[in-house]
Amino acid sequence: MPTTIRDLRPNDPADAESVVRVRRAALPFMISTAPGVAFELACAHPAKRYRLLVAESADGQVIGTAQVGIVYDSPEPGQGFVNAYVDPARRGLGAGSALLRAAEEHLAAEGAKDSYAWVLDEPPHRAFAGRHGYHPSRSAHFLRLDLTTAALPALPRNLPAGVELRTASAFAADPRPLFEADAATSLDEPGDVAVEFDDYEDWLRHTWNNPYLDRSLTSVVLVDGEVAAFTAAHTDGATRYSSAMTGTLRGFRGLGMAKLAKNDSLLRARAAGYTQAFTGNDTGNGPMLAVNTWFGYEVCATETRFTKRLETLR
Ligand SMILES: CC(C)(COP(=O)(O)OP(=O)(O)OC[C@H]1O[C@@H](n2cnc3c(N)ncnc32)[C@H](O)[C@@H]1OP(=O)(O)O)[C@@H](O)C(=O)NCCC(=O)NCCS
Repeated sequence: MPTTIRDLRPNDPADAESVVRVRRAALPFMISTAPGVAFELACAHPAKRYRLLVAESADGQVIGTAQVGIVYDSPEPGQGFVNAYVDPARRGLGAGSALLRAAEEHLAAEGAKDSYAWVLDEPPHRAFAGRHGYHPSRSAHFLRLDLTTAALPALPRNLPAGVELRTASAFAADPRPLFEADAATSLDEPGDVAVEFDDYEDWLRHTWNNPYLDRSLTSVVLVDGEVAAFTAAHTDGATRYSSAMTGTLRGFRGLGMAKLAKNDSLLRARAAGYTQAFTGNDTGNGPMLAVNTWFGYEVCATETRFTKRLETLR
């Protein structure tokens, strides 16, 4: 019997757990928890037209999943994305093709012109993308740091005059300065689809209130009371820590601000019992890769972004 594609059942923790199981098996470098999966769906901006698809085998097991939507915060309209993952133990049953077909139908129905997909940089995955009409564009590395053995530097005893460290918890009453820093530095993050955001309420919903965000591990560097740099920490609440975004405002780059923020955050993460740190960097992001390499992060996998022009349905 063929694989069935359906939407994730919202408010069904067991369904969300199945998605977590598949994602962890297919891409262990990404943090995923059932509350996080449920939140992705619940907090999505209406313009994202977001769907979380699952592929069910004939025996009723979830064997694959895909995130599909529109990059609604891009200045270029009509950019869609699909990231599909199939349980490595259940490949070859048609789940990937079925997920991709359903995703592209959804994107085309929502008026997307292009579909972008992250694909693991391994021959079977690249061949799969090619067979489905996708062409490679840019690449990104996943990097890993073993926090149990990493030689993390101690924080400087005395910070330069005017420089202070805070955590995001200190911004609980008014997180707007962090929103502004995130929006300004995201403009300079290399990528194939430009992202520009200015909707504070939307940011509060999906970034500030994200269940993966650990405010006490998210570090912020202030210079004369203004945010100069930050690093946002996501965790699975157990052993895994992941950098969601590191940014330094343009006027403060090249001064060691990102290193300082990340140093503080990694030390806190280790003290809190996290054992593995992950991050993802565009292969062309020289400064961020330099910072991460300095801490001892090593590349553990590479993904290539593939893209395809869609036949629009409207
Ligand atoms: C990446 C970013 C956070 C770095 O911030 P920063 O405060 O300037 O970083 P630091 O000063 O702590 O360290 C920068 C390091 O990059 C190195 N560097 C700078 N430009 C470089 C380049 N083009 N290629 C390689 N290394 C470079 C510096 O020499 C320095 O390393 P060193 O101290 O060992 O010499 C900042 O450029 C930024 O906000 N970029 C836009 C957002 C972004 O891409 N974030 C990462 C998302 S994954």
